[in-house]
Amino acid sequence: MREYRDLVVGADAVVPLLNGRTGRYVNLDNAASTPPLKAVADALDRLMPWYSSVHRGTGYKSRLSTEAFEAARREVGSFLGADPRQDVVVFTKNATEALNKLARRLPVDARRNLVITSRMEHHSNDLPWRATAGTVHVDVDRDGRLDMADLQAKLARHRESVRLVAVTGASNVTGFINPIHDIARLAHEAGALVAVDAAQLAPHRAVDMRPHGAPEHLDFVIIAAHKMYAPYGSGALVGPRALFEQTPPDLVGGGTVALVGDELVDWAAAPDREEAGSPNVPGAVALGRAVQVLGELGMDRVAGHEADLVRYALPRLARIPRLRLYGCSDPGRAEERVGVISFDVDGLHHALVAAILAYEAGVGVRHGCFCAHPYVTRLKRVGARDFERIRRQVLRGDRTHAPGMVRASFGLYNTTEDVDALVEALERISRGDITGDYVFDPAGPSYEPRGFAWNLEEASPLARHLPTAP
Ligand SMILES: Cc1ncc(COP(=O)(O)O)c(C=O)c1O
Repeated sequence: MREYRDLVVGADAVVPLLNGRTGRYVNLDNAASTPPLKAVADALDRLMPWYSSVHRGTGYKSRLSTEAFEAARREVGSFLGADPRQDVVVFTKNATEALNKLARRLPVDARRNLVITSRMEHHSNDLPWRATAGTVHVDVDRDGRLDMADLQAKLARHRESVRLVAVTGASNVTGFINPIHDIARLAHEAGALVAVDAAQLAPHRAVDMRPHGAPEHLDFVIIAAHKMYAPYGSGALVGPRALFEQTPPDLVGGGTVALVGDELVDWAAAPDREEAGSPNVPGAVALGRAVQVLGELGMDRVAGHEADLVRYALPRLARIPRLRLYGCSDPGRAEERVGVISFDVDGLHHALVAAILAYEAGVGVRHGCFCAHPYVTRLKRVGARDFERIRRQVLRGDRTHAPGMVRASFGLYNTTEDVDALVEALERISRGDITGDYVFDPAGPSYEPRGFAWNLEEASPLARHLPTAP
């Protein structure tokens, strides 16, 4: 475990606590973003002296940056099992941009076609489809698992019109992993393509697009570098080159063209036509290096370690009085999920639990709906009338009752000591052993301890004036 810990930057950070002391920071917010791998930070340090704009520069630095950028593209494609002859890796700024791009670039007939997605999606794999095509949502069962029978029924009902099935590879709320290759087979049988939002899956499990023509082939895969130990502002959309080349790009300008005349434009081949303007070379190189390292570590080992953490955490969390786990709490089924555990503590606002964990235990988690309102609403069994009442409050600026939970999420560098720190802090919270007096802000919703604030400005890397010693 120590071995994995040593791979990331900042794993042993120490942070100020409410009691005036400092404590080891326990980062359990990896589903939002992971820290960088040291190998990634090193690669960027090595790139910087040679950094230059890519593609059209003739100088050595430009050629070297171009090589690094294109090598990153190859690494990403190979990590995901893409076919270099048929697929193209398009760099984006994150998963959301990749999904929006796909929604804009997928040729659909808005009058005829529709897209099937699900009620367990992050908003980034739901709202882009609502904006561009008719959408049908597959439901989830009571625990929050994708309802495969409902998917089959909806595919059968919309066989004539379904163009794409867009599902998450793993949930950012319950961690449930979807049977993406079974879904692909069903989608293909219905004449549709399949897109997998692998933002949560790819950091934790091997993703293999499988050969074109195979029923289980994944047509599109979407990833986010900042969830894969490369937080330098990149993501990727991988899919068939021919599809991108059927229609003009969604964002036009520099780099997207073969030739421009006074009245005509000939578009460049993909991926260039999809990457308007100067690309984020460091971001791409970071992602390329991250997937190299993950590949060398072996995703099966990473998955095994994270499943061990889930197996270790679930029974300990389940024993805490007043704590309710969402999704599946069976440690025997740890392989069926990624290391994301959502919960709340009966009688305490989720924002308060998260604040106490941060200020009193140095444990970093996240709370709220995790950009998955329809899913969290279902998991929390919020009925239509309550939803409407909450909605009126939210629109008035009061988010007190917006459905929410607390989420702890593991990265490969987390250890059983990190789980122990979470469990001990939650045990204290559960028995009311809370030091701070917390003030509530309904607009957040958030809680801050009275009379205490972190001096973040001083600690910021952008602080101009470092505090002078007394
Ligand atoms: C499943 C899933 N999809 C998409 C996204 C959006 O990712 P990004 O922040 O890179 O746009 C997230 C982010 O949490 C996610 O968990």
